[in-house]
Amino acid sequence: MFQTSPGMRDILAPESARWRHLNGVFAEVVEAAGYQQVIPPLLEDLGVFTRIGEATEIVTKEMYDFVDKGDRHVALRPEQTASVCRAYVEHRPTTPWKTWYTGSNFRYEKPQRGRYRQFDQVGIEVLGVDDPHLDVEVIALGWDFYRRLGLQQVRLVVNSLGEPEDRAQYVSALGDFLRAADGLSEQSRATLATNPLRVLDSKREQDAPIIAAAPTIADFWSDAAREHFDAVQAGLRLLDIPFELELKLVRGLDYYRRTTFEFVGGTLDSAQNALGGGGRYDGLVEALGGPPTAGIGFALGVERALIACDDEGVFEAPDTSVEVFVVDTAGGEHALAITTELRAAGVSADRAYEQRSMKAQIKAADRSRARYAVIVGTNELDEGVVVLRPLRTREAQQPVPRADLVATLQQRLQEGQT
Ligand code: HAM
Repeated sequence: MFQTSPGMRDILAPESARWRHLNGVFAEVVEAAGYQQVIPPLLEDLGVFTRIGEATEIVTKEMYDFVDKGDRHVALRPEQTASVCRAYVEHRPTTPWKTWYTGSNFRYEKPQRGRYRQFDQVGIEVLGVDDPHLDVEVIALGWDFYRRLGLQQVRLVVNSLGEPEDRAQYVSALGDFLRAADGLSEQSRATLATNPLRVLDSKREQDAPIIAAAPTIADFWSDAAREHFDAVQAGLRLLDIPFELELKLVRGLDYYRRTTFEFVGGTLDSAQNALGGGGRYDGLVEALGGPPTAGIGFALGVERALIACDDEGVFEAPDTSVEVFVVDTAGGEHALAITTELRAAGVSADRAYEQRSMKAQIKAADRSRARYAVIVGTNELDEGVVVLRPLRTREAQQPVPRADLVATLQQRLQEGQT
């Protein structure tokens, strides 16, 4: 018997309806701000993703890459920012290009709660605008989205990684500091060799005092970087969005410049508590062969958002049960006709199959959680009626002329009667 491979999951109802609802809420929030959906392919030339950064684990260790039948070295996308930038270079839409996306990404990680090998994100990316007000808009949209889900315990942490030169100077100073430090864990020493910034992400106790004493990026901000970041913070205050300055927030991807931010959940374990994150990546379009172009965006993990919703007891799965369930003990053809008529009239309807007994069909009707059962029996049919039975109230069932059934149900449902 086959099962899903590790880190991959089937999303069944009612959770699947919740996913769709979450996507709908996200689309509403961002489309109200002028963002339009882009649907990049799941698979790209490997080179698109190596531009994320040669020192990024999702590129060096976790990529699902392979050589296809045409001898192309391709990879399943580990994220969508690089794909959106590749699409920008390919199509050159007018700027500002405000996009949103949703869909699966693939990273060969060690699976655990909140960490999967196939996971979904919703996100936005904006290309071609350098204004700090845009940084504020982007962050505010993520914030609003979590609010719309009903989450109350999400924290926003922000940082600036400075201009590329500031960042480079900081990385070099940080590297010097960490190399000279006594007692850094072996794992962090290995990280230090490839990417000193990532050492700041270490959750090992042994590293904590060293990280606490390490220099911060703030000492290396150029005037321009500081000014931009001041404006971002002022904008967040103007919008009353609470945030914490976290000068050691580096994020896992290498392409970030200046503003970076993360939405942190209140309930998940610390290794998986990043619900979403983003920042500026002004050099990425250029790295993909385009002109120098400012870029900023975020991606929010769908699974982690829903885990946070479970933990906070908010954003339950929407009710997707049908309105009417047809029970037909006269052969089944009436069920076929009635469900078709109802659906055409905009009333959702389901039915029982295989000419089961009345009892079995009524049981199926109850299980469907429909608001009404329509019961078709030979005796009633002879009189030209069917029986309408409310399933969610104690209201009595009543005969309705077959010819009036659709109109009667439409009216009842509209009146909100059950
Ligand atoms: P990221 O921080 O790698 O950023 O991922 C964003 C979010 O995706 C995470 O905070 C987390 O919720 C979710 N996520 C990542 N990996 C996994 C996983 N293995 N299992 C479950 N959820 C996961 C990016 O992907 C950037 N593209 C964000 C961005 C957009 N920056 C600028 N624009």
